[in-house]
Amino acid sequence: MNTPLTNTQMRDVDALLHPYTNAVTLRQTGPHVISSGNGVRVRDDAGKEYIEGMAGLWCCGLGFSDQELIEAAKEQMSLLPYYHLFGGRSHEPAVELAERLKELAPDMGRVIYQSSGSEANDTQIKLQWYYNNALGRPDKKKIISRIKGYHGVTIVSGSLTGLPYNHMDFDLPVDRILHTSCPHYWKEAQEGETEAEFTARLAQDLRDLIDREGPDTIAAMIAEPVMGAGGVIVPPEGYFQAIQPILDEHDIALISDEVITGFGRTGNWFGAQTVEMQPRAMSMAKQLTAGYAPLSAVAVTTEIAEVIEGNTGKLGNFGHGFTYGGHPISCAVAIKTLEIYERRNIVQHVRDVTPTFERLIAKAADHPLVGDGRASGLMGCLELAPPDAKAFKNPAKTGPILSAELLKRGVILRAIGDTLAICPPMIITEGELEEMFAPVEAALDATMAWAKAEDMLR
Ligand SMILES: Cc1ncc(COP(=O)(O)O)c(C=O)c1O
Repeated sequence: MNTPLTNTQMRDVDALLHPYTNAVTLRQTGPHVISSGNGVRVRDDAGKEYIEGMAGLWCCGLGFSDQELIEAAKEQMSLLPYYHLFGGRSHEPAVELAERLKELAPDMGRVIYQSSGSEANDTQIKLQWYYNNALGRPDKKKIISRIKGYHGVTIVSGSLTGLPYNHMDFDLPVDRILHTSCPHYWKEAQEGETEAEFTARLAQDLRDLIDREGPDTIAAMIAEPVMGAGGVIVPPEGYFQAIQPILDEHDIALISDEVITGFGRTGNWFGAQTVEMQPRAMSMAKQLTAGYAPLSAVAVTTEIAEVIEGNTGKLGNFGHGFTYGGHPISCAVAIKTLEIYERRNIVQHVRDVTPTFERLIAKAADHPLVGDGRASGLMGCLELAPPDAKAFKNPAKTGPILSAELLKRGVILRAIGDTLAICPPMIITEGELEEMFAPVEAALDATMAWAKAEDMLR
């Protein structure tokens, strides 16, 4: 039985439409109201403390109380709380941050700002269309994405996203967007297929798609180095090395969606380095400001940038830009964030704690309810499944039970269907990792009891 809603909960459901929420069940359960944060922990309005094992939405790499970031925002707020970059105006934080991003991603030549990951990926696609028009290739416009890829929710980025909920009843995907196979070895490999054989099959799928559609109609492929919201899918051995030459052969630009994987998450500055991809463009957000202010950045090679710049000269303008793109407060916070990542050697810290993270995931994966456990740097998951199968009788019911069992035990982790995503603030210590995993076994036992009682196992 549900407890009666508090005053705040009642006001909430009467005033808000929540993203990624079942609004009908929310009316019974009420929202979970978070009031404050400290280090890797947050506290709710009932005073209960939790380890925030998802860094919010994969974004708060420096935890929830970094005073230097707060000061950076305050300082910029007093100096220049708003300015824009339209019509050739500029401000120092936007310039300094773009220079810094170019140093971190040396293959990139220019940076353009937005406020969110979705806007970044929308911008990526518009830039590809604009670029190909400028080059006199009006038919080279389709974009390849992947089943279970996550690139956002706007009309085009939501179309790139390869998840049913993002399309259902939204009339998506729009045309020009193609989805190729998902690189999820544990789930999608055929009986007896090795990882290398699986990779070869996916590369062939991509080749077939390009041949079928016509290479001259395809502008780009977008991919997360490690897939996040689709279920933390680490690419199989040799994946990007196999697909990159196919794209290069047909002059199809590879766009790396670094919205989650950027800035140390996988143990390198960018996920592209971890999985050895050579993108011609990158989307960055989330940990760019450690989640403390909204900001995204699209970086493109000098070659792409110069074609675009030339075309603005021809047309007399560049008809694109967001009011809050490159907001000075967000840029100041981002500059400070990158300075902290460097000063505290966050990338090395992620590498140092990764073996503990992997060991704890492997230990949890020994539980009979866990089909697979995997990680890349400090981004991992437990994929639940019945002991001898790869899916439950009734999918996407068991994961949320595990997440609720963990919440009761003071740990916030997110269920993506039956996959429990784990993406803690990058500052987490080995001791805090142990603490975060301590209740996992008991929560899995309770979930197993529920799954048996509900007849979820095959
Ligand atoms: C890889 C990736 N791209 C894009 C997005 C969309 O970002 P936003 O929610 O800021 O629009 C997300 C959000 O989780 C993401 O994980």
